[in-house]
Amino acid sequence: MSSASSSPESIDAALEEQKAYYRARAAEYDEWFLRRGRYARGSEHSERWFREVERVVADLEQFAPYGQALELAGGTGLWTLRLAPHAEQVTVVDASREMIEINKERLEGHAVRYLEQDIFSFEPDRRYDFMFFSFWISHVPSDLFDEFWAMVKRCLKPDGKVFFLDSLKEPQSTAVDHVLPGEDHSETLVRRLNDGREFRIFKLFYKPDELRERLDGLGLDTTVLATENFFLYGYGGLKQG
Ligand SMILES: C[S@@+](CC[C@H](N)C(=O)[O-])C[C@H]1O[C@@H](n2cnc3c(N)ncnc32)[C@H](O)[C@@H]1O
Repeated sequence: MSSASSSPESIDAALEEQKAYYRARAAEYDEWFLRRGRYARGSEHSERWFREVERVVADLEQFAPYGQALELAGGTGLWTLRLAPHAEQVTVVDASREMIEINKERLEGHAVRYLEQDIFSFEPDRRYDFMFFSFWISHVPSDLFDEFWAMVKRCLKPDGKVFFLDSLKEPQSTAVDHVLPGEDHSETLVRRLNDGREFRIFKLFYKPDELRERLDGLGLDTTVLATENFFLYGYGGLKQG
């Protein structure tokens, strides 16, 4: 599906399938990040992957999560764990109860508030000092891009900061039996679980400059960077003045 030619109903149906995929994948989600199971590609690959993760973590720590933090699509908490020690409280939004349960276990003892909600209908009940989302913007259909970032802006205090992280288009990021879309630029691709079940999800890839320019046009002042192979990440805040 290319969302450029899709009806709102078909986008909604695809977003429901995307949520179902992550609910079903919760228990095996970490295998991807930890380069295990179908995502294992040897020790040299893992070393490169985690070296690049550490670069992002170093910039995140320098950027300093603080105060009231909001994490969208918090998943199993791999990154919530990086935020919680710095923030007064982290509010995690995720549509999957299964993901939230794993996140809760991982974050035991930390100040975390959980909201089981759909990001596409989420409205903040307060303003935040810091926002974070990892491996989420690639799952936002292009038709909802502007709307999503308008909501991000509504969540931020005037001097609030945002940090985001996502995948570069690198075939070795995904499972050995997954195929990345070609240049025809379909916005969706098929993802498979360990038990063979298949789901169609949105997966859009951005180039740093292109993303920075689009965000600039939406009133966000950001720096967007790429690691050598795997990750795109950015940070910034509302344009001032
Ligand atoms: C790729 S995972 C990222 C998880 C986490 N940020 C990380 O980096 O490990 C995407 C997450 O988005 C959640 N999700 C998918 N669709 C959603 C929606 N419409 N509203 C809220 N959460 C959603 C999934 O449940 C999943 O936890």
